[in-house]
Amino acid sequence: MIHSLIFTILAVISTVNAFYIPGIAPTSYKEGDQISLLVNHITPSVFHEGKNKEDFVYSFDYYHPKLHFCQPKKLEKQPESLGAIIFGDRIYNSPFEITMLKNETCKSLCASTYPKEDAGFTNKFIENGFFYNWLIDGLPAARRLHDERTKSDFYGAGFELGFLDKEGKAHLDNHFDIQIEYHKREDDQLRIVGVTVEPHSWSRTEAECSAQEYQPVFISPTEDTNVVFTYDVSWIPSDTLWATRWDKYLHVYDPKIQWFALINFSLIVVCLSMVMAHILVRALKSDISRYNEVNLDDEFQDESGWKLVHGDVFRSPKNLLLLSILVGSGIQLFLMAFTTIGFALLGLLSPSNRGSLATVMFILYALFGSVGSFISGSIYKFFGGEKWKLNLILTPLLVPGGILATFAFLNFFLIAVKSSGAVPAGTLLAIVVIWFVISVPLSAVGSILALKKEQLSQPVRTNQIPRQIPTQPLYLKTIIVALVAGIFPFGSISVEMYFIYSSLWFNRVFYMFGFLFFCFILMAITTSLVTVLMTYYTLCAENYRWQWRSVFIAGGCAIYVFIHAIFLSKFSLAGFTTIVLYVGYSLLISVLAFILTGSIGFLASLFFIRKIYSAVKID
Ligand SMILES: *[C@@H]1O[C@H](CO)[C@@H](O)[C@H](O)[C@H]1NC(C)=O
Repeated sequence: MIHSLIFTILAVISTVNAFYIPGIAPTSYKEGDQISLLVNHITPSVFHEGKNKEDFVYSFDYYHPKLHFCQPKKLEKQPESLGAIIFGDRIYNSPFEITMLKNETCKSLCASTYPKEDAGFTNKFIENGFFYNWLIDGLPAARRLHDERTKSDFYGAGFELGFLDKEGKAHLDNHFDIQIEYHKREDDQLRIVGVTVEPHSWSRTEAECSAQEYQPVFISPTEDTNVVFTYDVSWIPSDTLWATRWDKYLHVYDPKIQWFALINFSLIVVCLSMVMAHILVRALKSDISRYNEVNLDDEFQDESGWKLVHGDVFRSPKNLLLLSILVGSGIQLFLMAFTTIGFALLGLLSPSNRGSLATVMFILYALFGSVGSFISGSIYKFFGGEKWKLNLILTPLLVPGGILATFAFLNFFLIAVKSSGAVPAGTLLAIVVIWFVISVPLSAVGSILALKKEQLSQPVRTNQIPRQIPTQPLYLKTIIVALVAGIFPFGSISVEMYFIYSSLWFNRVFYMFGFLFFCFILMAITTSLVTVLMTYYTLCAENYRWQWRSVFIAGGCAIYVFIHAIFLSKFSLAGFTTIVLYVGYSLLISVLAFILTGSIGFLASLFFIRKIYSAVKID
């Protein structure tokens, strides 16, 4: 027993060591150095770039046997970080021979035969706009693009497998003109600062690139097709410094429009919030002075409004255990997102650190388990929950376990279609072990601290007998309020959603962290304000069951997040697996958004209620 335990832990430590983070320090080269070209998975393109295409949301291995791409003599998988594995990077070596500063023309790569049975497989990927993702010195091989609006050139990471001609026939690219930009430093060190590829489709029988025009390659479904792969390499001197080599890749497509939309919307949100806050503060001031005056005179009691429910407002809600766990987990998610975006904003997560974003997210999520459990335990204790051990055990397991279970379930579909995005079972196991080694003990510490800490006091005493709740007006129905209130927080993040999804589904680099940070803060503020206002009206209607209501009202934006994700796909998803994966992940994201915003709303309401009930005198 003990032996096997030690063995497991050793195995995990060695796996953790294998997750390294490459690409922080620059690599310098000399003339004549061998440069390796690495190949990553082939990925689908962003929604509807081509005509009549269906969308895939999962990627495939570069050396998928049916693709028949040229293989090196000895295939080697590159070590990757945990985050990169989760995000689906599968990087291998390749047979390209590239030598520093040595130009090549028409170098032969290999000749490959496509049997007629496999033609459909490759052609399907060309038709649906799949991309190559090659890497040289940590830089993605890019296609050159031009932005008409800003009249600037920029690079788009990756390039298409082939193209469609006017008749819609797919042609595979088999000649690659690789252009590598290098920068020569004063000390004669050479650094790679840009990689672009111009692909061509040339049908020929020998490895030749004559001036004459070739027909494009067509992989026939009726007979076997021979394809000869060749490439050129040209080294182009450049003034770009190594430190700024990513700038050309991180071109914001339309910066003006985006900022315009955001500022426009934020102004509306800020104005509305100010109006809301103003109304709320005025109403509260007059309420509080009225309540306190009446008490002084001690004549007839003007008992109406929220003061009436003072004996019930801190009554323990139904399913307190679940509520406290969700709120704790929501705050854990919030802190993770906030800190990750903050790190990225400070430039600590450079895009050349493939997968580092996901790795950092995972580690932060595990660490913030302590805060999550502390909050969960505190809330549970505040409302007089008694099964604190259950709270301690379930808080670090329920939501993370749910996420992992969904992930593992969807992973089966990826395995079934032989996608390279499928996470190996060993990695999943490593995640579970890391979870139990890091996060669960930290969470237990958080829970115990919450238990030991001086009780957060309730400002008013709770009556023995619950009050009758009068019939509530229709417009205060939770679902209606949630739908209306959810518009505000969703509005503040909707602009970003498209970019988050395209980096998630289509391997696009996400870089607008400043923007995202701003939106995230705006979302937290609007969520709190809207929920507090709605909680106020709820209490004024003498309904003291505000706890779950505040969670649902604040979480209302999750409904929009889901609907938005579904509409974004424009219902052109390719086949059953894509639909399951797309809807499954969208649902997971929406549920997490619900937990995150719901907990913000709940805590804001709790804070607000404690404040207002400490301000009135109650005899
Ligand atoms: C390689 O090709 C590029 C572009 O054609 C050219 O600018 C460069 O001078 C060439 N380098 C050598 C060493 O011939």
